[in-house]
Amino acid sequence: MTNIKKNYVFSYGFAESGRLHLQHWLWNMQLGWDRHPAIDLSGSGEIWIADLGCGNGAWLLSLARSFENVQDQEIVLRGFDIASSHFPAPENLPNNITLGVMDAFTTDLPASLVGKFDVVHVRAFAAVVKNNNPGVEISNACKLLKPGGYLQWDEVDAESTRAVSPRETVCSRATQALLDNAKLSSKVAMNLQYAWISDLGKIFKTHGLELVTFTRMDVKKELWNDAGDEIEEGISVVMDLVVCVGRKPL
Ligand SMILES: C[S@@+](CC[C@H](N)C(=O)[O-])C[C@H]1O[C@@H](n2cnc3c(N)ncnc32)[C@H](O)[C@@H]1O
Repeated sequence: MTNIKKNYVFSYGFAESGRLHLQHWLWNMQLGWDRHPAIDLSGSGEIWIADLGCGNGAWLLSLARSFENVQDQEIVLRGFDIASSHFPAPENLPNNITLGVMDAFTTDLPASLVGKFDVVHVRAFAAVVKNNNPGVEISNACKLLKPGGYLQWDEVDAESTRAVSPRETVCSRATQALLDNAKLSSKVAMNLQYAWISDLGKIFKTHGLELVTFTRMDVKKELWNDAGDEIEEGISVVMDLVVCVGRKPL
């Protein structure tokens, strides 16, 4: 099992769980949906959906609401994370959501989960995937899927993070330096590289998935401290969001 203290850059606690809820809200505001509209779940009686690295279950909780009025299907929502620290108490979750501990990079997937899921979802793993290689996790996701099931991966392309000036007279140098330093130190300290994010579509195909969509969009974000003067002048920090959906062949 991965040593989470050595391998994960974020902390666990109230503030981090709050950050995850806010991040979910931003994703949902940007995309307008939780499940990609190209994922067709019509026709099945029982729908199984997994979220790998589910954090506090924000995506599953939001998704559950979209199924509230569904009458003719039973929706089973399963979240897995390497740490249970952010899991709400089971009593506070809707009946159809169950959360459990599982390493997304395990080489020992429980047989009871193999071939079970119509959708596997992964989001915000830029700080989790090491050595520029999400291969083991994608291979696990493929094993979890039924034939015809979908893998939806939503990612922040950390490589694309950049300071953007609103007009020529506003300098973005300090902000860009802050971003470059953050990128360099995460590479040196945590072995985080981000080229795989642009390549997700190709990587899906090498795992036998049919590529349904690869979408890239740019998003503005407010920033902090040293670059504050520039931020007040209108510099924004921009990073691309990437959404990739693949389908396991029938
Ligand atoms: C940035 S958070 C994203 C949480 C969630 N996917 C979301 O979008 O709200 C990354 C999550 O991955 C989990 N994680 C880190 N390493 C993992 C691993 N090897 N297997 C499963 N989960 C992992 C962390 O505990 C954390 O909850």
